[in-house]
Amino acid sequence: MRIAIPAETDPIESRVAATPDMVKRYIGLGAEVVVQAGAGLRSGVTDADYQAAGAKVEPSAALALADADIVLKVRRPASDEIAHLKNGAAVIAIMDPYGHEVELKALADAGLNAFAMELMPRITRAQVMDVLSSQANLSGYRAVIDGAAEYGRALPMMMTAAGTVPAARIFIMGVGVAGLQAIATARRMGAIVTATDVRPATKEQVESLGAKFVAVEDEEFKQAETSGGYAKEMSADYQAKQAALIATHIAKQDIVITTALIPGRPAPKLVSAAMVASMRAGSVIVDLAVERGGNCELSKPGEIVVTDNGVKIVGHLNMPGRLAATSSSLYAKNLFSFVETMIDKETKSFAPKWDDELVKATLLTRAGAVVHPNFQVKA
Ligand code: NAI
Repeated sequence: MRIAIPAETDPIESRVAATPDMVKRYIGLGAEVVVQAGAGLRSGVTDADYQAAGAKVEPSAALALADADIVLKVRRPASDEIAHLKNGAAVIAIMDPYGHEVELKALADAGLNAFAMELMPRITRAQVMDVLSSQANLSGYRAVIDGAAEYGRALPMMMTAAGTVPAARIFIMGVGVAGLQAIATARRMGAIVTATDVRPATKEQVESLGAKFVAVEDEEFKQAETSGGYAKEMSADYQAKQAALIATHIAKQDIVITTALIPGRPAPKLVSAAMVASMRAGSVIVDLAVERGGNCELSKPGEIVVTDNGVKIVGHLNMPGRLAATSSSLYAKNLFSFVETMIDKETKSFAPKWDDELVKATLLTRAGAVVHPNFQVKA
């Protein structure tokens, strides 16, 4: 059983799908591990580190991928990588499958078993495999660090001989995994933190972290959480009331971090151009939803926009990749935990149980066809 870890081909991607620790554990399961030279460099892992863990390092993607039974990646393989893969190989990655039917068909046509880690069910057994959580947590942390770095003032209150520095006001919009970590981080850095969400369960979570909850708490709010624990898209009426409340609050904030998402929908627009115009010069908005259309009307993917009134709107792509060593180590552990369940310890071979709940939830393509129910082409 040969496991390949190629270098990521997308220049924005700094993470790697396996760390030396996980390489050792794959070898412990009976695998031969091949790493493409340089694959870990941007995550602080050298080829020598991989070799010391027992991996073989190959100079090119073609050599690393040749004859691999399992390919571990961060992102969906590009067409030139697919060309190197053998029929029947498993590819496990964050596949970003929605809206990429053509790319899914290419994986199917190549006879690959492609698994999408982000479709892992959020059940107790799979918590250790939850890449959305492991990466969102770090995004929330990094958003505060980036916001603080762009902000030209200190975050905590400081009483010095030369004068008193007031504490910064940080407002977190969307209190899922990323938002909760952002609240905790902003509090640790000494800011005065407020937060909003449309799911009622978040109120207590916000308060337990020592922040103040700000939201329109009407009847619709009480029903806003789906049975799966996600937010619903809110009515136009609710959104208008929410906007009115946010508008007065946001004008007094120094840093705003937006993390709001709705599964399968574009990110809700929560911060309008008028709200940005009401903020003080030097204020910062960090939009973590920028890859899904953005929570702020003015954010631009991959850019830091500075408005006429001096507000910076940070739209970094691949936030977890800005902490590549940490995010790679957590992602690599998520992957290992899943792959381990699909390896037969007796025969030391890749033998997924095709009717396993985790396999069914994540398997996109098999035996030449797109098999996942969410991605069937409608007749
Ligand atoms: P997400 O990334 O889908 O969304 C982020 C946040 O944005 C959510 O809290 C959502 O309610 C909020 N949001 C959506 N529309 C909004 C609006 N108009 N205004 C303000 N906020 C808005 O969420 P994430 O982080 O994936 O968490 C979703 C749920 O999954 C939560 O209930 C979380 O506790 C749960 N979860 C469960 C896990 C498990 O293993 N059981 C693991 C991780 C999360």
